[in-house]
Amino acid sequence: MFSWAKAFSGKRPVIRRLHTSLSAAALLLAAGAQAQTNDLPRLVSHDGRNALIVDGAPFLILGAQANNSSNYPAQLPMVWAAIDRLGANTLEMPVAWEQIEPSEGQFDFAWVDTLLDQARQHHVRLALLWFATWKNGSPHYTPQWVKTDAKRFPRVINAKGEAVDSLSPLGSATLAADAKAFAALMKYLKAADPQHTVIMVQVENETGTWGSVRDYSPLAQTAFDGPVPQLLLKARALKPGTWREVFGTDADEVFHAWSVARYVDAVAAAGQAQVNLPMSVNVALRDPIAPKGPDSYESGGPTDNVLDVWHAAAPHIGVIGPDIYQPDYAHYMAAVDHYSHDGEPLFVPETARSYATARYMFAVLGRGGIGFSPFGMDFTADATTAEAIPAADFDKLQPFADDYHLIGPMMRYWAKASFEGRIRGTAESDARTPDIIDFGDWIVTVRYDRPPFGASDWAQIKPRPVNPLGADGGVLIARQGPDEFIVTGRMVRVEFMPKAPGQHMQFLSVSEGTMDGGDHWMTHHVWNGDQTDYGLNLSAVPRTLDVRLGTY
Ligand code: DGJ
Repeated sequence: MFSWAKAFSGKRPVIRRLHTSLSAAALLLAAGAQAQTNDLPRLVSHDGRNALIVDGAPFLILGAQANNSSNYPAQLPMVWAAIDRLGANTLEMPVAWEQIEPSEGQFDFAWVDTLLDQARQHHVRLALLWFATWKNGSPHYTPQWVKTDAKRFPRVINAKGEAVDSLSPLGSATLAADAKAFAALMKYLKAADPQHTVIMVQVENETGTWGSVRDYSPLAQTAFDGPVPQLLLKARALKPGTWREVFGTDADEVFHAWSVARYVDAVAAAGQAQVNLPMSVNVALRDPIAPKGPDSYESGGPTDNVLDVWHAAAPHIGVIGPDIYQPDYAHYMAAVDHYSHDGEPLFVPETARSYATARYMFAVLGRGGIGFSPFGMDFTADATTAEAIPAADFDKLQPFADDYHLIGPMMRYWAKASFEGRIRGTAESDARTPDIIDFGDWIVTVRYDRPPFGASDWAQIKPRPVNPLGADGGVLIARQGPDEFIVTGRMVRVEFMPKAPGQHMQFLSVSEGTMDGGDHWMTHHVWNGDQTDYGLNLSAVPRTLDVRLGTY
């Protein structure tokens, strides 16, 4: 991997102090958080912007999720081989209930110990995934003593009276057992992880139920025929009544969403009482543009139509993250919009490991996202699809590594600028339409179809050929001062224009380099001539530019 730090070793870098008008430290204080090192990771928000604070400062999860069955020590060499090539700073890894409590009340945390040890050796943080009552809606990761006791741990009963492959969120013994196991895990973590290698914990996985919109068991029916809880009425400003009276035809789904969310919240609360780490849930999305009824997705999970229900029901959950597998631009961005409106922290905990998906990192981070993570990024070849990745095939996923090698070295800078509300980012649309970013006095046009040489308005200019492997353009821009920007990205042309009429832009300087870990820019070399005459053309080579603008 190319590293400016290495390139600079033994040389004296040109260092220029950058001027920032806003300070992340001040924002942290305003958000009620102390800027200390070595304290607990936590989520903070201020003015509709969010940050995940790790080691006392904003952090971006440049993540990768392992395959579902990679959570055993023998699998780890094939996991690290991929993570290291990718340059991910966070590994999302399951910890299964069946694994830590094979016999009731007897806990075994050997897996957690091995994982913590190896993550530290690889200088990678962890987001643990608690696979328990729900894993893609089903109880497949519960211990056998749960699976085989349907009386104590009841299943959802569908409208026809049949049991389905999902546990009832109204099973009080199930909740007690899950919460007890999760609390034991978090208690163990408190002692075993004083350095906070674990920065976030996902509670359950893709909650909800396939095959029934809700539980129709007698117990559930009694609750359904009773009054809607006050907390939910308040959240939606509704008048009291039974579920059917208040929610009409949506009542079944809203009831199930509320029941699942209350359950998940209770599990999260039990864990946070041991160690107060940020907790998240992930979402099996319904179609973000043209959704069908709840029988076409996992009813009860935090789909976009019941997000407010989940927010009201699950205050211990800090992040609701969409698993985005639809690769086209319109669906992808619709999902991103659903899960980032109203100032909610945006985190994509799973996304398809396909060439063209990697570019969306720029759009996610550019909307203030706190992280991005493709799924199935290991060499175990245990993946669920034909694209399992043997190491030799890794080049097909090079764009994810390109992303992380671009952002990774300056991750703390981008995270801080994001929390200060200074960054914007875009990704190439399927139609390759230019994106316009309005920075007030400056308008930025991002083009995805321009070759690196030749003015955008030349009649003879030929578009950059479409990449047969998939769309690949994306850019991230931070405003540094009134006329100064930090620009990074790949396969884009970036053009600045003054908004004031009659004014023309001129570059005062464009320098390629990096931040030194803080706010000190280090110039590697200055761009001019062919490198700036036709806009700022970023290729597949990782480059970051400091751009100072003037007018004439
Ligand atoms: C989404 C789930 O959350 C993952 O655990 C995994 O099953 C993937 N789907 C498979 O693509």
